[in-house]
Formats: sequence, structure tokens, C-alpha cells
Amino acid sequence: MAKATPASSSPVSPLRIGLIGFGTVGSAVARILSESALSGLELTMIANRDVARKRVEWVSSSVHWTENVDELLAPEAPADLVVELVGGLEPAGEWVRRALTAGKSVVTANKKLIAFHGPELEALAREHSCQLLFGAAVAGGIPVIPGIEHGLSGDRITRVEGILNGTCNFILSAMESGAEYATVLADAQRRGYAEADPSEDVCGWDARAKLAILMRLAMRIHVAPETIEARPITAVSAVDFAYAAELDCTIRQIARAEQTGVGVAAVVGPMLVPRRSPLAWSTGTENMVVTTGQFGGEVVFSGHGAGGHPTAVAVVSDLVNLAHGLGRAPGAFRAEPVSVEPEVPHYIRFLVRDRPGIVAAIAQALAAEGINLNAILQKPGCCAESLPFVVTVEPCRASALRRAVEAIAQMDFLLEPPLEMQIVEK
Ligand SMILES: NC(=O)c1ccc[n+]([C@@H]2O[C@H](COP(=O)([O-])OP(=O)(O)OC[C@H]3O[C@@H](n4cnc5c(N)ncnc54)[C@H](OP(=O)(O)O)[C@@H]3O)[C@@H](O)[C@H]2O)c1
Repeated sequence: MAKATPASSSPVSPLRIGLIGFGTVGSAVARILSESALSGLELTMIANRDVARKRVEWVSSSVHWTENVDELLAPEAPADLVVELVGGLEPAGEWVRRALTAGKSVVTANKKLIAFHGPELEALAREHSCQLLFGAAVAGGIPVIPGIEHGLSGDRITRVEGILNGTCNFILSAMESGAEYATVLADAQRRGYAEADPSEDVCGWDARAKLAILMRLAMRIHVAPETIEARPITAVSAVDFAYAAELDCTIRQIARAEQTGVGVAAVVGPMLVPRRSPLAWSTGTENMVVTTGQFGGEVVFSGHGAGGHPTAVAVVSDLVNLAHGLGRAPGAFRAEPVSVEPEVPHYIRFLVRDRPGIVAAIAQALAAEGINLNAILQKPGCCAESLPFVVTVEPCRASALRRAVEAIAQMDFLLEPPLEMQIVEK
């Protein structure tokens, strides 16, 4: 039996692959393995529930299909390594643990599992002398994880930021041309880019899980994903894009982490991005990651962050690496809370019933928190009964701004809660 460890060079017999999950990514992985005839790799088993629905004629007749995952995970099964492409914490986590405990390497695209249980699973892999590879878990088909782990390991990465959720990028880049959030979300759902319940994406929970993975690999800091503040994109409206354009910016869901001399900052949410920033260039479902290294400076990774085939390429690349004895050697990391709030400029959009004294009242509430007003933007021709206008403020802490905004939100001229967003400074 060929064993997927980094020790050997090219394996004598092919690595036999047991695939769990024949969905969007799983079927694309099977397709590549079936059509590309990659040396050193052989698909031998496929497990999925209700497997009869899944059978396809293009998979070799020698492949054994089963709906019993236990059969695939049995020590005597003809699978040297396991590819987990079901997703979610359980039962996928249990299957991955069982495979690793049996000394079988695992390749997965399961960002949730890796974000929440990555360190524990890596320790299990080490203990049982096998490998856990998850190159597809962040930014799908873009080789961000191997790029960071192999290509940038010589640098000290101090900042990671990016567009990690294709659904939000599709929605926000479509809103640039004037469409409202609800219309674009419905279109994204029709096209299969957004789930019926889009909360994981639009609330930023998916992006913060991916950010936590990148922080561990790039900055060697482990944070609990749920401690990263995630702000939803749901309150962004077409008028915000119009005001952002006046500031020569657009709006994207940005995931951002930084280690400073005094601690770690991490946040996910809609932010104003200057048009000259690479972060403004991603449209549709594209993803982008920008790393900043102490010695090497900025490196930009971009491309198709999701979709069956791009993601499958990342999974198969992990398999090829294993077949060539090129595994990971996960480095040490330290657990650290998110403790720092960087001082950054912000955008605040108000929708008010116009009357004299509004700007003075807002400026006073901001001043009470030591926040300086920078600019006031008001598009001509808006109705005084429902007037959107924008205030930008000089760099300040988000918590101070939130207190000021909470105070302003009590004022009787407001028609809806103000929307605040960070302005990315680059
Ligand atoms: N799709 C992407 O663009 C993308 C990008 C990056 C990472 N990923 C990750 O890749 C993984 C797979 O995603 P996907 O998009 O391929 O999902 P998917 O299309 O929903 O496929 C999951 C497959 O697993 C099967 N399955 C679910 N629960 C099962 C169970 N309890 N027992 C046996 N089979 C089960 C499903 O069967 P049914 O057909 O019966 O539901 C389906 O065939 C996830 O971790 C995801 O986060 C996906």
C-alpha cells in the first residue's frame, strides 16, 4: 500500500483515493482524476448518501461506489488516503479524525472544519505520521495556502487582507451599477452563487473562518474564528456606492488582519476601498488576497475563489503533492485573542428628515468621543423628507465611533440607523 507521507519521492504504486462527497467539488475532482490520468493517483472509492443518484458513466467501472462511509474508512478498504468534500463540522470532522487516526492522509476543502478544528486535526495527523492538506479551503482555486506556506515562509507577514467570499463580491460589484441589495441577492440565489439562507456569506461568518485560517498560516496566530468581528453587508445600499464614487472608492466585503507591536487586529465587513487599490479590482465571484511581509512587501493573489472546477484543481494539486511526497510541515503558532483596534478613517451614512442643526448635533456627538469630522457629502436634489448624506471622519477606533453612532441613532431626525464602514487607506 502506498502511504502518503512526505518521506518518499515518487511512489511505487499509485496512491489509492477514497472520495467522500460527490457534489459540486467532489464530482469535479473525480472528473479531473478520471480525465487527466495523473501519474501516482488512482480513484478507487466514492462515498455519498443515496449513491444511486450520483453514479456517472465517465467514472471508471473499477471505482467502488458506496453510501456507507464506514466502508471507505475501514482499515482494509482500498483507499490509502481520504478526500473529504462533504463540508460542515459533523459528520465530516468525525470522518477526518478516523482517517487520520488510521494513519491515512486527508485532503479537504472544508474551511469550517479547518478554521474551528485545524490545530487539533494537524496534531492528530502528526501523531499518526500522515498529512492533512487543505489548499482549497481558502479562495478555492487560487493557490493562496500553498503560496503562503511554501512561497512566503521566508518572510514575516504582518498583514493579510482580502476578498474571501465570492457571493458578497458578486453582490457588491453588481450593486456598483446601481442595483439594490435585495435584487442582486435574488439574482445571486437564482444563479446558485448564494444559498437560500445567505447568512453565512452576507453576515461575514464564512469570510472570518477563512481569515482565521490565513492568520494561522501567514501570521502564525491562532484566533477563535467567532471572536473576529463580522459586520453584515446587508445595510449597504445603492446610495452608498454613489457616495463612495465621490470619494474615488468602491465598496467590498474585506477581511483584514494585522499584527502590530501591541497585539492582533482582525475584522470582516463592508469597507470603502480606493479604486487604485488591488482590492477594488475583483469583480463577480472573484477572490483576492493581499499579504504584506516585513521584507518582501505586498504580494497579491487573485482569481476564481470558488466553483467546482477551480476548487477541484486545488484539491487535486494537494493530491499530486502527496503523490510526490511533498506534504506540509505545519509550523508552530500561538493562540492569541483579537485585542487591537487600529485607528482608521470611517464613512458614516445617515438617512434623515432634514431640519436645521443636524450636522452640528452629529459633530457634537462625534467630538464627545474625540472623533474629528473630515468631510460632509450631500448629493443635490434629494427629498428633504428622506435625505441621505455622508460624513467621513479622521482615523479613530471603531469602538469610539460605535458609541458616537449609538448616541446619534437616538436623535429624532434619523429615519434609519446610520451605516458606518471603514475606509481602507491605500
Ligand atoms: N463549491 C465551491 O465553490 C467550494 C469552494 C471552496 C470550498 N468548498 C468546500 O468544498 C466542500 C464541498 O462543497 P460542495 O460545494 O461540493 O458541496 P455540495 O455540492 O453540497 O456537495 C456535498 C456532497 O456531499 C454529500 N453529502 C452531504 N452530507 C452527506 C452525508 N451525511 N453522507 C454522505 N454524503 C453527504 C452531498 O450529497 P447530496 O447530493 O445528497 O446532498 C453532496 O453530494 C465544502 O467543505 C465546501 O465548503 C466549496
